[in-house]
Amino acid sequence: ISSVNEARADRFTHRTAIVIDVLRATSTMVTALGAGAASIYPVETVLEARTLQRQGYTLAGERFCRKIPGFELGNSPEDFTPEIVEGRRLVLTTTNGTRAIHKAMRADFVLSAALLNASACARSAMELRRDVVLLCAGCHDDFALEDGLCAGMIIDRMQALSSTSIDVDDFGTAMQGFYQSSKERITEILKGSSSGKRLIKMGFSRDIDSCAQIDTSSIVPKLQGDMIIIG
Ligand code: MLT
Repeated sequence: ISSVNEARADRFTHRTAIVIDVLRATSTMVTALGAGAASIYPVETVLEARTLQRQGYTLAGERFCRKIPGFELGNSPEDFTPEIVEGRRLVLTTTNGTRAIHKAMRADFVLSAALLNASACARSAMELRRDVVLLCAGCHDDFALEDGLCAGMIIDRMQALSSTSIDVDDFGTAMQGFYQSSKERITEILKGSSSGKRLIKMGFSRDIDSCAQIDTSSIVPKLQGDMIIIG
C-alpha cells in the first residue's frame, strides 16, 4: 500500500486507487449512490457540467464550498435524498475530490472512500488483488487531516482482513498510527481540521457530523469508464 497526497500519474499504473475526500466529495458520492442515484459523472469544470445538463444529467457540486449557480444540488451529503436523486444520472464537480478522481484514472480500478464506507472499501480493494494507492484529495494540493485519518483507517482494516502482513509505506504507517490513536474522537478531529473549520464558518457544520459517521454504508463507488457507479 502506498498513500500519497501528491499524485504523479505513473503511481497508479496496474494498481487500485482509493480516492479519499472525507469533507466532502467522496462522502457525498457514497451518500448519493446509497440514495439510489444511477451514476455520478465526475467532471473537473463547471463548463463541462453545464454542457452535460442538456443530455439529461442533474448537476451537483460546489465552488468555495457553496452550490454553483444554476446547479440543482451542492456538495452537502444531505442534499442527496432518495426523493431527489433516485434513478438520476448526476454530474459532480468539486474543487478537490472530482479532480483527484481524474488524477487517479490511470489505475486499473478507482474506488471512492470516506469514513462512511471505509471498511467496505478496504474489503473491495483486497478482493481486487492489486497493489493499492490511497490518494488523499486534500485541499488545493495540501494535505487534509481528515483524509489522512480515513487512509489510516482503511490501512488498519486491510491489515485486519489480511492473513499475511502487508507492506505499507511510511506515510501510510504514520496515518494508521494517527487513526489508532484518534478513533475515539473522530468528529472532534474533523471539526478541528482546516476543512472542518472552513465548513463550520460557512454554515455547514451538520455536514461534518454526517461525514464523521463510521462504516454506515457498504456502498463502494467505483469508476466504470467515465462514470462512478456502485462497485
Ligand atoms: C472538494 O471536493 O473540493 C470538497 O469536497 C469541497 C467541499 O467540501 O465542498
